[in-house]
Amino acid sequence: MTDPGTDLATPRSTPQASDLMERVVNLCKRRGFIFPSAEIYGGFRSTYDYGPLGVLMLRNVKDAWWRAMVQQRDDVVGLDAAILSSPRIWEASGHLANFTDPLVDCRSCHERWRADKIGDACPNCGSTDLTEPRAFNLMFKTYAGPLESDATVAYLRPETAQGMFVNFANVLQTTRKKPPFGIAQVGKSFRNEITPQNFVFRTREFEQMEMEYFVAPEQSGQWFEYWLHERFAWYRSLGIPEEKLRLRHHDPSELSHYSTATADVEYLFPWGWDELEGIANRTDYDLRAHAAASGERLEYFDQATGERYVPHVIEPAAGATRTMMAFLLAAYDEDEVGGERRSVLRLHPRLAPYQVAVLPLSKNDALVPLSRQVLQMVQQVAMCDFDVTQSIGRRYRRQDEVGTPLCVTVDFDSLEDHAVTVRDRDTTEQVRVAIDELSATVMARVLR
Ligand code: GAP
Repeated sequence: MTDPGTDLATPRSTPQASDLMERVVNLCKRRGFIFPSAEIYGGFRSTYDYGPLGVLMLRNVKDAWWRAMVQQRDDVVGLDAAILSSPRIWEASGHLANFTDPLVDCRSCHERWRADKIGDACPNCGSTDLTEPRAFNLMFKTYAGPLESDATVAYLRPETAQGMFVNFANVLQTTRKKPPFGIAQVGKSFRNEITPQNFVFRTREFEQMEMEYFVAPEQSGQWFEYWLHERFAWYRSLGIPEEKLRLRHHDPSELSHYSTATADVEYLFPWGWDELEGIANRTDYDLRAHAAASGERLEYFDQATGERYVPHVIEPAAGATRTMMAFLLAAYDEDEVGGERRSVLRLHPRLAPYQVAVLPLSKNDALVPLSRQVLQMVQQVAMCDFDVTQSIGRRYRRQDEVGTPLCVTVDFDSLEDHAVTVRDRDTTEQVRVAIDELSATVMARVLR
């Protein structure tokens, strides 16, 4: 018997929304998920660094997306385009002219706000003496090379999407795909947000997971519906409860400059429903804009029918960092084990930073080498932590708190029976598993 607290977990009431946010932000800092950036210099305007556990989880979020959107399909290919590229992209795409938020200043306390988010009074001081809204472009401007002149202006991309449009012809030629097909990309985007807020929900530097799906124009309506359904199902498949997810169709007044229809997948955040992902019908707006600006033909020629057309685009566009935050909020729970309160992240095993923790029951000279052998074996199939410090009960709690689905304990019996104890994070149930069968057990339980 390896666990002094063998009592099974019993539920407690989950924290209220306001506490939940505080507890999750606190856990992120304390356990190395997310740190305020440049903290030793007092931080830097709502920017964050992803720590040892955060980097694992964020990677898992992106991998889960890639798996569903690229690996498990034969109609979507990947791309990794440059973040800094020709400013002509942003001129043609309409971002230079239209990618703006309405900015107002409070004349009383001089705070700046997004006019569409604050009503008619300053959230800071309550004054209604606000300036008229003016358009503020969200793109970060810089210079490529040593000369700072109009000729060297460049922009950090505010979305990954344009990389797919400007490479449309390259991908078509090299892959011989034909509509319907998609190009997927995961990467950083930058927006000079007026009011970054709510932890990593809205930041100036963030990661997106976007896919542009090119279809015959007359099929765009049905593919729009298809992707709404697929993307909603993806969040459900990774453990977000149905009652915390909804689809919301945009009013015509909310639509981006390129879109004829958009619906958001929304999550019930502690402050209310808010966007996780936008699914947009971008029509042929971008391909036509780039074709006109570059002089290149960006269209599809169907050799079988002799038909030539500019495909329409359905775009599911998600935020990796924002989605990670939603997964953390949805997973946070508190219960009791053996009369002791524990906090536990009930993350889907594919998203958890570590899938397995290998724990020698004690630091005993005989146990540690066998534990290391077990570790090296399981590391071939899963991300593992290895922890020899503190009591076994405490080590279980530490793993529960960061969402590790399985703890593998190597005890003195293991030296005789070549088996280990596998403990389940959610139920705290333990089963004995032969070391020879451990990798298969781990794969079956965490790689679903
Ligand atoms: N290509 C379309 C596009 O970029 P968007 O709705 O502006 O659409 C897509 O962005 C997703 O990117 C959002 O649903 C959100 O998850 C994420 N995102 C956008 N701005 C963000 C920000 N400032 N911080 C964090 N995530 C952001």
